[in-house]
Amino acid sequence: MTTHTPRVFSGIKPSGGLTLGNYLGAIKRFVDMQGQGFETIYCVVDLHAITVWQDPKELKDATREVAAGFLASGIDPTQSILFNQSQVSAHAELGWLFNCVARMGWMNRMTQFKDKAGKNAEKVSLGLYAYPSLMAADILLYHATHVPVGEDQKQHVELTRDIAAKFNHDFKAEGFFPMPEPIIDGPATRVMNLRDGSKKMSKSGESDMERINMTDDADTIAKKFKKARTDPDALPDTLEGLKGRPEARNLVDIYAALSEATPEAVIAEYAGAGWGRFKPALADLAVEKLAPISTEMARLMGDKAEIDRILGEGADRADAIAQPILDQAYDITGLLRSR
Ligand code: TYM
Repeated sequence: MTTHTPRVFSGIKPSGGLTLGNYLGAIKRFVDMQGQGFETIYCVVDLHAITVWQDPKELKDATREVAAGFLASGIDPTQSILFNQSQVSAHAELGWLFNCVARMGWMNRMTQFKDKAGKNAEKVSLGLYAYPSLMAADILLYHATHVPVGEDQKQHVELTRDIAAKFNHDFKAEGFFPMPEPIIDGPATRVMNLRDGSKKMSKSGESDMERINMTDDADTIAKKFKKARTDPDALPDTLEGLKGRPEARNLVDIYAALSEATPEAVIAEYAGAGWGRFKPALADLAVEKLAPISTEMARLMGDKAEIDRILGEGADRADAIAQPILDQAYDITGLLRSR
């Protein structure tokens, strides 16, 4: 059994803007994993974005904007590798090999595909269906061992493990691909929609009031939290008291994640407080944490050539890790390579 070096891989799609869910569930945690004994590789997954229609006139800037979000939040391109997926062609190539390993039955169980395709399953792209096998390629191309993600990506990381195990087994390449661990921790692995606590906060909800965008200004953030749906009750003095109150629980979790406290500590501080007190405190905290990031994102977007340079350099470094692993995967599969 090969031992693999501790290596983190994770990615974010450049489709729509970044939300508070992406920040708390992913980017902030990516930053925390830097310098913790892992090699860290972070990717703007543009090939994933095009599984649904993206305007070609906007996609490049959307890609740069996600990269700006990473950088502004504290991803250091000298400590981590930061790049966009389409610049490293090995992702698409290994993705194809995995399309031939993954089973239809496995793909049919993917709940995110079912949610996204809905009643429209006949009309969505083949890419949307095959998406989880490309995601497996993203991770396994680097022999990544740890994959920090939000709760909604757990099933895809489990599928990645199934693909790795089947590849290793079928080709008698025991230990070639590692079994990557999904890392889903902290209070904000599933940030909910501000208007409906039963739905995830997402980039593509109908109303902008449902989500906080990383680029929202202070007034907009304050307004969205003020109008966030809650119930009439005050905050309880224990977390158990939030059972059956998903909107209230969500706001407490967001507060906890932003302030790097536990939800228990937040409840202890605000026990008995009404929304008239808690919501403005939450809005102030969110503005305090997000405003410097959105200001820095705007500054970075003023120099696109610099973002492109960082992504290009990251792609060169990613490629240097990926290519030998892809070459081995081709060889293990029995594909002839004579140049
Ligand atoms: P994407 O672009 O939808 O989301 C990026 C990351 O943000 C997390 N996230 C959330 N976390 C908490 N609460 C929310 N409301 C919320 N919304 C989004 C997601 O869980 C994710 O971690 N398929 C992936 C991208 C991907 C990837 C990969 C991830 C492609 N290849 C390889 C890890 C490893 C996706 O669509 O994420």
